[in-house]
Amino acid sequence: MTSKKILVTGGNRGIGFEICRQLAEMGHQVILTARTQDKARQAQEELAQLGFIVQAEVLEVDKPTGFAAFAQKLSDQYQHLDVLINNAGVLLKDKLDFQLVDEATLQQTFQTNLIGPILLSQQLIPLLQKSQAGRIVNVSSFLGALSRMGGNYTAYRVSKAALNAFTLHLSMEYPDLIITSCHPGHVQTDMGGTTAPRTIDKGAETPVWLATASDVLTGKFYFDKEVTDW
Ligand SMILES: NC(=O)c1ccc[n+]([C@@H]2O[C@H](COP(=O)([O-])OP(=O)(O)OC[C@H]3O[C@@H](n4cnc5c(N)ncnc54)[C@H](OP(=O)(O)O)[C@@H]3O)[C@@H](O)[C@H]2O)c1
Repeated sequence: MTSKKILVTGGNRGIGFEICRQLAEMGHQVILTARTQDKARQAQEELAQLGFIVQAEVLEVDKPTGFAAFAQKLSDQYQHLDVLINNAGVLLKDKLDFQLVDEATLQQTFQTNLIGPILLSQQLIPLLQKSQAGRIVNVSSFLGALSRMGGNYTAYRVSKAALNAFTLHLSMEYPDLIITSCHPGHVQTDMGGTTAPRTIDKGAETPVWLATASDVLTGKFYFDKEVTDW
């Protein structure tokens, strides 16, 4: 297996941390990013204690003004990047209802779940195009699937629906890259809650597979390594 250089956003906890752990275990070169130096270093140390070495970097997904400098730093360091995993996300739980949702909730949700992934992809695509087979994996949700749309979770649902639209759009802009979205399942993280049915390692499985497997189709929405309806 060839070792890939893979950048993960929101890598300090939850599904993102487990994605980093599984990728490092497979022998890939992981760039774990988190929104503060402390969080990035702490996650790096936790992985080191498990025997995995990763690079830790600060990346605030809702602060796109830093993206160009971040991309420059990466390209100074590396010839190419193989995979960007847009994993960081928020589900702000106190304003879930359409009746309650406010501008601040919409702004933060869209900034993190949609605008960040769009602008980060824009900055990193030149480096991804230098890979033999560059990829972007957007960690989305069934809550944003048009085919499963329901009530409640207004900001989150619409942000993930738009993230899926972005995936499809970008796959057409860049046929040389493999660009996918996925639903990780309802996972036992801070976001998913302790009663969620799925373990974190199972939740990380499909994003890891989309980043590394040979038979992945671009412009598709995946659940459990299978193409599913948007
Ligand atoms: N858990 C589920 O059941 C479930 C289901 C469907 C989809 N998803 C998706 O899976 C992804 C991971 O979710 P999770 O369950 O692991 O959530 P989580 O446990 O709440 O972790 C979220 C991660 O995103 C990071 N993050 C949030 N805002 C950020 C920002 N502005 N800049 C950088 N990092 C930021 C968090 O960093 P901090 O520690 O700094 O807050 C944390 O590392 C999300 O995109 C989520 O929407 C989850």
